Amino acid sequence: MPRSLPFFMLAISLGFTGAAGAQTPAPQTSTPEQLVDALNGVFGKHPGARAVHAKGIVLEGTFTPGAQASSISKAPHLQSTAVPVTVRFSDFAGIPDIPDNHELASPRGFAIKFKLPDGSDSDIVAHSFNGFPSPNADDFHDLLVALGSSGANAAKPTPLDKYLATHPVAKAFLTAPKPAPESYGTLPYFGVNTFKFVNGAGKATYGRYQFQPVAGAHFLSNEEAAKKAADYLSTEIRARVAQGPVNFRLLLQLAAADDKLDDPSISWPDTRQTVELGTISITKAVQDSDAAQRQLLFLPNALPSGIEVQDPMIEARSAAYPVSYSRRQE
Ligand code: HEM
Repeated sequence: MPRSLPFFMLAISLGFTGAAGAQTPAPQTSTPEQLVDALNGVFGKHPGARAVHAKGIVLEGTFTPGAQASSISKAPHLQSTAVPVTVRFSDFAGIPDIPDNHELASPRGFAIKFKLPDGSDSDIVAHSFNGFPSPNADDFHDLLVALGSSGANAAKPTPLDKYLATHPVAKAFLTAPKPAPESYGTLPYFGVNTFKFVNGAGKATYGRYQFQPVAGAHFLSNEEAAKKAADYLSTEIRARVAQGPVNFRLLLQLAAADDKLDDPSISWPDTRQTVELGTISITKAVQDSDAAQRQLLFLPNALPSGIEVQDPMIEARSAAYPVSYSRRQE
């Protein structure tokens, strides 16, 4: 069962300033194991499940690159040939039986694995909020520890109260409205961390991924959400994809000169230029989604030549995800 948590909507904190790449970040001190332990401290340990984004559904489809994609990157899936993809939609919490209309089910997750022509994979792991509660992995660790020690019986002010008093961006993230979606297929998703893209001529571009639903963004009122069944999102997406492809445009939001490249808690303005990298067409649910999701590991740093890690949080995430993966195989 979910622990009693006073927060819920992970909303990102915006608290940091400074020019893009101007300073070398302090070395990360929290280990991948400590990060996963801290997630377990918030949500509990659930055998066979992810430490976070535990409830999900796996589907398959195709990615077709757009006409401008190769001007951004020489990555093989961003040239002219369509590639197969596996995607996983998920609820936020590390609670495998969380009702889809629970507050802790937001933000929703979207992970995609591109099957490249040479047999390797490249992944993107995004969520349905344009931001993150913490600027880096250590701050995120501190937030998780505060959350995990601020249950219903904690003395006031709780560790979370104290944390949020000094971290306005985390507070903004946690309290931001995150309405339940009509469908996993009617939500925009955001990559949040910044990558560096290099094209065939060696030109570098810095950007953040966005997935825009071709069906449009559609949400439920609180009253509508309250009437939904616990598994309405997986039921809905299975029905939707049986009627026809569920499509997303994959966009790259380009950094302006003074945008922070190493702080996902600060979203860039909507006025930034975007380039359409291609279209994801999701065409079917896999037969045994539970078995598939247990085996699937998405890694934000699984990148071909032509895409590079820019934000250090990408490496921190990519070290923590395999820890959660190994634990769910036990
Ligand atoms: C330091 C920051 C972060 C840490 C420590 C962290 C940790 C984790 C862990 C341990 C998992 C489980 C992986 C698995 O068992 O396969 C996970 C999954 C996930 N995370 Fe993160 N995460 C971080 C940042 C983010 C950010 C910035 C986003 C959104 C942009 C995000 C979105 C997701 C999603 C969607 C999943 C589910 C992936 C799947 O379907 O397999 N996380 N995260």
